[in-house]
Amino acid sequence: HGVMRLAIRARARAGNPDAEVLRDPAVREDPFAHYERLRSSRPLVGGAFSKISVHHAVCTEVLRSPDFGQIGGARAEGLPPVLRTALRLAGPRPSVGPIDPPSMLAVDPPEHARYRRLVSRAFSARAVARLRERTRAIADELLDDLEREAAASGGRVDLVARYASLLPVTVISEVLGVPVSMREQFLAWGDAATPSLDMGLDWRTHRSVERSLGELDAWFRGHLRRLRREPGDDLLSALVTAAAEDEDGLTEQELLSTALLVFGAGFETTVNLIGNGAERLFASPDQRRLLAGDPSLWPNVVDEVLRVESPVQRTGRRALRDTTVAGVPVRRGDMVILVLAAANRDPLVFPDPSVFDVTRANARDHVAFSSGIHFCLGAALARMEGEVALQALFERFRHLAPAGPARRRGTIILRGHASLPVTLGPAA
Ligand code: HEM
Repeated sequence: HGVMRLAIRARARAGNPDAEVLRDPAVREDPFAHYERLRSSRPLVGGAFSKISVHHAVCTEVLRSPDFGQIGGARAEGLPPVLRTALRLAGPRPSVGPIDPPSMLAVDPPEHARYRRLVSRAFSARAVARLRERTRAIADELLDDLEREAAASGGRVDLVARYASLLPVTVISEVLGVPVSMREQFLAWGDAATPSLDMGLDWRTHRSVERSLGELDAWFRGHLRRLRREPGDDLLSALVTAAAEDEDGLTEQELLSTALLVFGAGFETTVNLIGNGAERLFASPDQRRLLAGDPSLWPNVVDEVLRVESPVQRTGRRALRDTTVAGVPVRRGDMVILVLAAANRDPLVFPDPSVFDVTRANARDHVAFSSGIHFCLGAALARMEGEVALQALFERFRHLAPAGPARRRGTIILRGHASLPVTLGPAA
């Protein structure tokens, strides 16, 4: 793994315009100035096998193009030989990862549609509307707990640990039918596994990722076996039953992969939306005043947060054939990194792009949920949860304020907080 690390560093240095963000912890913490430097050059920049774009039009074009597929299981295909060998030496994955094939996120048509179709109805706008009231009740319960805890601890609480992370994991656990009583364990596994989204892990992180994915995986296998014997009234039971009855149903591996993806995506991203939103609102008393006067603006707050502080900062695609993008030739097998967070600050689409403006007319044009066939399956759920969580929080605690330095997650792809200490102030 020393070899792997060296290879990754060498590659990062070899003319890769994105190296800075991969290497420098300060740039990871605040990557936006780095993105702006990339914007000032051509719409698609980079070396022979890996290119990058921060432009809204290019990101949208690539994400919607049939000439590109997911990097997915062929993740290693576009890498230079030395890296490929190093990855092979690192050994096979002991478990099924939520973002490895056969996860829908990692595969191209026609398999993609087959996996996505089976779960898409459960996350439609109509299905999500039915979850709103229950989500509000969960938010209110968590806020009651938060208030009690703050009273017991001199007023200070961690908004991420005690609210932003708990709301999404509770909702997705109820939808899927996994025990809410295990939510802290799920959060711990998820937290330990998320660095796997980023490339170039050191050996220790790699091991802890594999350990937690392995445990999560084993727990889910056992859970799916239990549901096969005793199905309940939930999404996973429906999938298990369909798999058993339908010739075209999912194999055990496909079922596990789908369950892990929907579950993990269901809570590892929305926590960042809520935390990033709270931080933005702390910093914008004028916007908070606007909201107090006109609560109908809350849905737009969520899209504006997704735009300026995108929880998923980037994704990537692999060219399936030789093609051109924005006049730049791209060879089959080349990787293209799409910086969604930077596309969301493209001045050609969003005037004064770094300004947080809850009345922005086209906030929804962001690509924070990606675009094309892999457009976030949980977008309606995430929007509803973000809106309910932030509105319930700020309407109850009108004097909510940061109390000490926030700590960011150390991840590149996910942007959010590990911890966000606050004081609640008196409840409304
Ligand atoms: C896909 C973002 C919440 C489930 C994606 C993608 C993005 C994204 C960017 C596509 C990646 C790509 O194109 O390569 C987000 C953000 C969220 C969020 C920012 C919260 C603020 C959720 C939730 C769920 C979910 C709550 C729960 C169901 C999925 C699934 C996919 C996906 C299953 C794969 C879709 C496919 O490949 O067809 N999400 N997501 N996401 N998301 Fe989300």
